[in-house]
Amino acid sequence: MSKSQAQPAHLPIVRDTAALRRALGVWRAAGESVGLIPTMGGLHEGHLTLIRRAKAECARAVATIFVNPRQFDRKEDLESYPRDEARDAAALTAVGCDLLFAPPVEEMYPPGFAAKVSVAGLTEVLDGLHRPGHFDGVATVVCKLLLQALPDRAYFGEKDFQQLTVVTRMVRDLELPVVIRPVETVRESDGLAMASRNWHLTVEQRRRAPLLSKVLMETAHALAGGRAAAAPLLMEARLRLGRGGFTKVDYVELRAADDLAALERADRPARVLGAAWLGATRLIDNVAVPEAE
Ligand code: PAF
Repeated sequence: MSKSQAQPAHLPIVRDTAALRRALGVWRAAGESVGLIPTMGGLHEGHLTLIRRAKAECARAVATIFVNPRQFDRKEDLESYPRDEARDAAALTAVGCDLLFAPPVEEMYPPGFAAKVSVAGLTEVLDGLHRPGHFDGVATVVCKLLLQALPDRAYFGEKDFQQLTVVTRMVRDLELPVVIRPVETVRESDGLAMASRNWHLTVEQRRRAPLLSKVLMETAHALAGGRAAAAPLLMEARLRLGRGGFTKVDYVELRAADDLAALERADRPARVLGAAWLGATRLIDNVAVPEAE
């Protein structure tokens, strides 16, 4: 049977670690590699790009959907997070995902669950400052998902660049046997980075939202080659977002791409990262600084 004939018409869904391991055990015994794509659902083209990348590099692609309560710092954000498993499963089936792991909260955090994975240093800056406990929640759940599935590769979008950095460091420090694959941010035609939270934007906010990527891109280009001092350009970027209708700017910063150290100029591989609010919706984005223009 060819690989395309082998695609299931309906995506198999498992809800506990034992069933996940049984399914993956069959594939491993047949010598098939596995790519894991952790998500919280609310799937969009950015997630589907991760699945396609996994399918291109691995024999099997396994998605997870778990809205992880431990990484939400605001109750209303957790409650309003989009949840539509049937819609997500249909989208996963269409891109050839082989299995969905969608555990309930009690499977991930049974009564008495007390472990916490913390990646110091990388998590006290940027989003870590504005979302206390967020990255401990992310590191803990991603560590658990990786240990539950033990995939060959795991796929993360560069849009959540700090998350990608934290996960990469955690895997390195704990010597987890998995290769982390970063995947470039997928954008709408007007530049807005795709994100599940974009669905909360009003028509007027959606019109303003692409300014974040535009400002970050222009700032990154102005910093290219490491010649320009960052501080005035970052200040101007924050002011532009305010003038453009963003109700609050959490940060626009220049950071080293590997360890997120604050930089005064982009004299090593660097990213400009930003987080800003449109009403009740918080958008984040980041752009690589070109090495030279
Ligand atoms: O990026 C996300 O959707 C989540 O932070 C992740 C990696 C699935 C962990 O809950």
